[in-house]
Amino acid sequence: MTSSAKYLAARALLTAAGLAISVLATAQTAPVPPLAPATVEPERIILNLTNDPQHEMAVTWRSAAGSAAGKVQFAISEPGPNFVSRTTEVAAKTEALTLDVQEQTGFQATYNSVVLTGLKPATRYVYRVGDGANWSEWFQFSTAGKPGDKFTFIYLGDAQNNIKEHWSRVLREALREDSKASFMLHAGDLINRHASDREWGEWFSAGGFIHAQTPSIMTPGNHEYGRPIDDTGARLSPQWRAQYTLPENGPEGRDKLKETAFYVDYQGVRVISIDAPLLHGDEAERTAQVQWLDKILANNPNDWTIISLHFPLYSSEPDRDNPRVREALKPLIDKYKVDLLLQGHDHGYARGAAPTARSKQSPKDDATVYVVSVAGPKMYAVADLDWVDRKASHTQLFQVLTVEGKALNYKAFTANGELYDAFSLTKDAKGRKTRKDLKPATPELWVPGKKPAKTGDLSQ
Ligand SMILES: [Fe+2]
Ligand SMILES: [Fe+2]
Repeated sequence: MTSSAKYLAARALLTAAGLAISVLATAQTAPVPPLAPATVEPERIILNLTNDPQHEMAVTWRSAAGSAAGKVQFAISEPGPNFVSRTTEVAAKTEALTLDVQEQTGFQATYNSVVLTGLKPATRYVYRVGDGANWSEWFQFSTAGKPGDKFTFIYLGDAQNNIKEHWSRVLREALREDSKASFMLHAGDLINRHASDREWGEWFSAGGFIHAQTPSIMTPGNHEYGRPIDDTGARLSPQWRAQYTLPENGPEGRDKLKETAFYVDYQGVRVISIDAPLLHGDEAERTAQVQWLDKILANNPNDWTIISLHFPLYSSEPDRDNPRVREALKPLIDKYKVDLLLQGHDHGYARGAAPTARSKQSPKDDATVYVVSVAGPKMYAVADLDWVDRKASHTQLFQVLTVEGKALNYKAFTANGELYDAFSLTKDAKGRKTRKDLKPATPELWVPGKKPAKTGDLSQ
């Protein structure tokens, strides 16, 4: 080989090696598709409950940066189209959001929100959003009735990953099962990366018009705080308060807990959202939440109390135990006999009563029921734990809860619409509770996970 041939061969080898390295580098940092910019047409329209759901409804949507001022037109719904001559128009609050974090650089959008007030209870309304030139279609919603009236709601565990691909069918199956749900409750980790507008876009796309007609309440998970992809430390998704309009009745003066810790009283049920990530890590926010929870549990005129938080007090996997969360909340849950906890985070299904509440065979009737569930496709092992009455692994689920006066019925369905778990709670005039488990015909969908850990005191 001549020296020039040697040179060419060496260069070819180096080129091939360089290409291989660059292919590897490309594979490690997967190409990011371009952002879908916010449009002039209203998009990502969503209803949220306020703490006066008989008389109010919150509407939030997104439009392009620099869009004309947003507004909502609404009226009591009618059989025909003539309601359009009877609409009320309300100007929106607008919030410009720009992101300058890694792949989100260049993101710009306007978020518009309105809280409709002065509504009539148990009434069907029609509304649209826009800027006067660009309008959405007309959507409909209902206001809440009075305490004791029958209603249903849907509870969903983590969506988090492959949201459009895999969470969409669960949400849609839930609506097929319960098309008249009064609201949906999301128990955290709605997305995987807290600031990723692509993932939030998937979340809104998966729900489509459902978000605009069935109000939601949501509690944040660790992935709403996520890893600090903006290098300024873990903080709440910048989209959270912009794209949702949630109650601001959390701990007073705690800005960090605004729209993450709150409660909604809906027809005899107090639904409380606890900001689990800030309960877990931050001493000031932890103390503030515990004191606030004590106050709102002590002054609670509702027949039923449900707490939703992301980190479960009793995990479906012993390796994922959250003793700090349990230490903070369990004394209050026991003191005030909270009925039900709806939780996420563990990517499995487990339902039962706390270990200390169990008699020889089954938990006492007045025991608080703890549920961990998952709606998205990410699956973790589920252990064979004593406190669990029904469990599932590698299964996506949604839940439909029905409340009427002093009766609460819980049903868990698999993603393909099969009834998987059910129980009912009833209270007598003195508030004494009876619990009945219903055993669906569906066989247990569970494969053995890890053995319970020997360390860690789950009786706390
Ligand atoms: Fe999760
Ligand atoms: Fe989580």
